[in-house]
Amino acid sequence: MKSSSGRLSMTDEQARNYAASIPFDRRLYGQDIEGSIAHARMLAKQEIITAGEAGAIVRGLNSIRKEIERGRFQFRIELEDIHMNIEARLFEKIGDVAGKLHTARSRNDQMALDLHLFVKDEIPKTIDGIKALQTALMELAGANKDVIMPGYTHLQQAQPVLLAHHLLAYFEMFQRDKERFHDCLARTDIMPLGSGALAGVPYPIDREFVARELGLSKVSTNSLDAVSDRDFIIEYEAAAAITMMHLSRLAEEFILWSSSEFGFIKIGEEFTTGSSIMPQKKNPDIAELARGKTGRVYGHLMGILTIMKSLPLAYNRDMQEDKEGLFDTVDTLQSSLEVFAGMVRVIEVNTGRIAQAMRTDYILATDLADYLVKKGLPFRKAHGVIARLSEYAMSKGKTFRELGRKEYRDFSPLFGGDVYDITLESSVAARDVIGGTSPQQVAKALRRARRLIKR
Ligand code: ARG
Repeated sequence: MKSSSGRLSMTDEQARNYAASIPFDRRLYGQDIEGSIAHARMLAKQEIITAGEAGAIVRGLNSIRKEIERGRFQFRIELEDIHMNIEARLFEKIGDVAGKLHTARSRNDQMALDLHLFVKDEIPKTIDGIKALQTALMELAGANKDVIMPGYTHLQQAQPVLLAHHLLAYFEMFQRDKERFHDCLARTDIMPLGSGALAGVPYPIDREFVARELGLSKVSTNSLDAVSDRDFIIEYEAAAAITMMHLSRLAEEFILWSSSEFGFIKIGEEFTTGSSIMPQKKNPDIAELARGKTGRVYGHLMGILTIMKSLPLAYNRDMQEDKEGLFDTVDTLQSSLEVFAGMVRVIEVNTGRIAQAMRTDYILATDLADYLVKKGLPFRKAHGVIARLSEYAMSKGKTFRELGRKEYRDFSPLFGGDVYDITLESSVAARDVIGGTSPQQVAKALRRARRLIKR
């Protein structure tokens, strides 16, 4: 700060560099300037400074914004942070009247404001990114409405499901993620300025005016809390961690499905890389990276939780460590969503390989048990019969449909000719409950998905 007293500036160069946040908090220049302009206008409206002084300050700030945007601004590490860098430049541009801007304000409530504005800006972008991925999943589901695939538990074939049903399961996860970000907005959309360093300020300020100027819907209600609250950052990072967890599960399935053993899908060339030594390979690097980047997003969440743990009120310098993790979380999540949506758009489904995976029809075992239940056998008994029947069929190297009527009868007299009507198609069609995998239910789910995306 130009007008700095000795107390504000660190003299040891190493210590000064260690404490400086300008290498990363310069990213907040837009929010910082926007907040300062609103603050200056309020000061003038309240006659704490004159309209002429506010005019000079606002013009100065606007021209500093242009300098930064054009890459002509000299950020200086010795000025520590974004607030001081901008203020020092304001002094150069408009002289001593610049010193009036910081009336009724502290860097503590100023930084809190910058962060609230930043996260508030990023939430809708994040939601849009999730939406784009949901749209891609929905379209892939819609284009493969009739494809039946093995459903798994324990990664063992369990029961047939529609591929669209499987893809729409991820649509649901991402829908919840959007809701979480939306919920987090309520606690982000708050205006902390006016809290001062910690106790409020001794000037007749108008906090509601500043909030309106900045498009924030509430003002904070306790000054100590307002300068030391980073819950909204934790919430954003928690929502981001959950979204990345979902992304990592989808990534894992794509990696598995694109392997030569599964071969269910082909990931577009643009999203795979060859090996430098094995010419046959197409590695699903993008999916693997998204899976891997989940780790750093979890790390940032643990980081901010640990930074905030046991901090006494109010502001502590520890809190400066909130930013890099937040920025990296935003960048990692948004870029992962974007590249994933692109990848999903060009996924090719290999229906032949999927059908091939179910050529032995043991995946229909539950349906055979349900068949016996419908003929009057208690489910537990039916389960036992089919367990023995499956073992028998496997030992003979036969599928269910290759077993003769006599062989069925040997296991239960309840078996009739209609047992051969049990197919992959009948299996999925039978699961016609809300949330089930029948074609009608999945068509309904697709319509719902389209509605949710349009909203
Ligand atoms: N650079 C600080 C931060 O990011 C801004 C607030 C500084 N306040 C202070 N009293 N040192 O947290």
